[in-house]
Amino acid sequence: MNKNFYITTPIYYPSGKPHMGHAYSSIVADIFARFKRLEGYDVLFLTGTDEHGQKIQKEAEKNNKNPKEFCDELSEKFRSLTKILNLTNDDFIRTTEQRHYDAVKDIWNRLVKSGDIYLDKYSGWYSVSDEAFYDEDEVEKKEGKRIAKSSGSTVDWVEEESYFFKLSAWQDKLLDYYKKNKDFILPSSRKNEVISFVKKGLKDLSISRTSFTWGIQVPENSKHIIYVWLDALTNYISALNFPDTDGTKYKSFWPADVHIIGKDILRFHAIYWPAFLLAAKLPLPKRVFGHGWILSDEKKMSKSLGNILDPIEIINKYGIDQLRYYLIKEVSLGNDGSISMQNLKNCINNDLANNYGNLCQRVFSFIKKNCSNRIPRSNKLETKDIKMLDNLKDKIPDLIKLINKQNLNEYIKIVVSFSFDANKYFNDSEPWSLKKSDPNRMNTILYTSVEQIKNISILLNPIIPESTNKVLDVINLKKKDLLIENISNDSIFDHNQELKNLDILFKKIENDN
Ligand code: ME8
Ligand code: MG
Repeated sequence: MNKNFYITTPIYYPSGKPHMGHAYSSIVADIFARFKRLEGYDVLFLTGTDEHGQKIQKEAEKNNKNPKEFCDELSEKFRSLTKILNLTNDDFIRTTEQRHYDAVKDIWNRLVKSGDIYLDKYSGWYSVSDEAFYDEDEVEKKEGKRIAKSSGSTVDWVEEESYFFKLSAWQDKLLDYYKKNKDFILPSSRKNEVISFVKKGLKDLSISRTSFTWGIQVPENSKHIIYVWLDALTNYISALNFPDTDGTKYKSFWPADVHIIGKDILRFHAIYWPAFLLAAKLPLPKRVFGHGWILSDEKKMSKSLGNILDPIEIINKYGIDQLRYYLIKEVSLGNDGSISMQNLKNCINNDLANNYGNLCQRVFSFIKKNCSNRIPRSNKLETKDIKMLDNLKDKIPDLIKLINKQNLNEYIKIVVSFSFDANKYFNDSEPWSLKKSDPNRMNTILYTSVEQIKNISILLNPIIPESTNKVLDVINLKKKDLLIENISNDSIFDHNQELKNLDILFKKIENDN
């Protein structure tokens, strides 16, 4: 069985500092990467920055920097965000690296060789902000300016010599691939959008520009800069040492299992990227998952509305797990979702502090006081103990299926309900009333509670790694124990070792904070 798993985020434009939208895509991808590791997979998780093109060149000029210097500074902010977000990315690729140049030039040469590239002239609309070409019917006039309907960004009329990619030739092959691979594009609402777009007919795609210089030159014609999207998409294989297709990295991890992206860049990932790969005679990724927009108080975040939520500010104030949990719990992955500071506070208090946090706190402090601070051994389990433990254990195959379809919301709902039930179990079982009358039964209740805390902590680990690691450390579990297969395995407990102290996991937020 192939136990490798390759997952990617978009590579972000380092044209400004990272914001909540970037943080969201990265956290989502990190959760899947962590979950697959729990399942025992060898995971490769890639993120990085997309540094070429007119947008970056213009932004650098505005800041009186040369583009490379400009990218060096801003790319560093994205790299440091990976640490702040507690991402487990194995690599961070920059498109200004030599390994990436080699890959892009090789892809270009493959497309030339296959007869998919020809020289002509492009005339049409171009948005520098989206780095995208638009047809007449995708553009509208607003307040005297022409804008792209989909993104609202301004477009300019462009006329220049350009190399073209024969995208039109791949239309039927693409439709065929979508048909045969039902889950290639998820969620399925997005798939339908893509299919109807392709069915309308694909035009050949301009894949080089001559009106600026910041980018990778076309081999054999240095007047031309390779279109930044052909350049950027290639990152997913340049990180695997492509063109070394015989190397272990490429062999182990390509095709990718899933590209996590926002819905704004679906066309590039679900149409252009597979078409380039088909032409280059390379395998296609298994899935593209396009998530929705994070909105701030129901509105799209924008500088002019002043409603931009800065992930770093929120993390400094409330904590990284708090932000990770909130984004996943409150935003339905795949749809747009509004976030607000009030909801964040409610979520921290209700789900984290009062539910999972409270469960751990009360069980461990009871054990400290009443069981010489060691995990008690169980006596014979009663029906209610078995029922609670089995309820979780029996759901594991379903939970794995949910994650494999990127259905994080259903996953988290189920896991939270386990924690709610465990709190209720502890309450209703009243171990405090059994200390004198039935210490054996008391021990069994505590053992069952700790076992369930361990199971829940493993399942929550991909989402709130920092807090669950603290909890697992209290019961002296090691990093190597962090596996799905250790759910309902109690042989990893050391009943002789004292429990460590648990600091407060989640501080409750008062309303004026
Ligand atoms: O498009 N809500 O980079 P980019 C949710 N370089 N996600 C959001 C978001 C929001 N409000 N705003 C941004 C590019 N995102 C290209 C990608 S990939 C080969 C090249 C996320 O810096 C979302 O994932 O504009 C979106 O697709 C991505 O950031 C765009 O980042
Ligand atoms: Mg963008």
